[in-house]
Amino acid sequence: MNEFGGNWTEAKMEIVVGYAKAYLTIMSKQTWAKTLYFDGFAGSGLIGSSEHTEAIKGTALRILDIDQPKPFDIYYFVEKDEKNKLSLQSKIESDYFGKNAHVIKADCNSKLIDMARYLNNNKNYRALAFIDPYGMTVNWESIEALKGLGIDLWILVPTGLGVNRLLKNDQNIPEPWLKKLEQFLGLSREEILKYFYSTTTINTLFGDQTSVNKEKSIIQKIGNLYTQRLKTIFEFVSESFVMRNSTNSIMYHFMMATNNKNALKIANDVIKPKYRL
Ligand SMILES: C[S@@+](CC[C@H](N)C(=O)[O-])C[C@H]1O[C@@H](n2cnc3c(N)ncnc32)[C@H](O)[C@@H]1O
Repeated sequence: MNEFGGNWTEAKMEIVVGYAKAYLTIMSKQTWAKTLYFDGFAGSGLIGSSEHTEAIKGTALRILDIDQPKPFDIYYFVEKDEKNKLSLQSKIESDYFGKNAHVIKADCNSKLIDMARYLNNNKNYRALAFIDPYGMTVNWESIEALKGLGIDLWILVPTGLGVNRLLKNDQNIPEPWLKKLEQFLGLSREEILKYFYSTTTINTLFGDQTSVNKEKSIIQKIGNLYTQRLKTIFEFVSESFVMRNSTNSIMYHFMMATNNKNALKIANDVIKPKYRL
């Protein structure tokens, strides 16, 4: 069972399900198109909670619950953990018999690339993808593979809980962390450091002294950078739903990327203004 992260867990699921319903309403009028729902971090189907006595349905099951205006033509759930995969699969077999749902034990990165190939070979398919990792698991090259495709991508970006933790205040970032940042953002370390740090030089009695400073409002900057990166692959990126912990620190930015202008509008409507920056 996956852990319940707080009210924002519920809000995030409401956003994805609300968007999926609007998406299916539009797609039901495009009779030529087939719809694919792709969930790259599908979970076990249930989310446990300290506030709820009983586990609640996770996003995968809530998406499978949608029948009106129509269900998706194909569901593709990716889950790396064997136990979670089996749990989700057994729930689908018992409660969603007849739906064209596949549960695959794999790494999301490889399946994003497989999905891109599938969409390239099946031009009548449109995809809605939900990428919900805990950390910096999604490589930039997996996102790059989606360029030019008919896909709407909701992605949870670990701005505060991931990237910010690797950006050390003194810029003295260990090599494996620099590699991770490069892999995650698809930028060189020089570009990353230039974006997040500035140097100031002060004249002192004994000569110039240079100091490195991490930029202010760094987590917002990370969110802005990821939005900019997505805009190199997709035409439009939504506002972010910013998730904060109980001490008001930002943990994640949740955003949607698409090549469809109407989809952008729907996404921004679904991310309720109260959640925005
Ligand atoms: C945040 S939970 C998913 C919750 C689910 N999206 C929901 O809303 O109900 C993340 C899940 O991703 C799985 N996971 C972790 N790394 C993965 C990877 N590289 N590829 C696919 N699944 C992964 C974990 O086992 C975990 O079940």
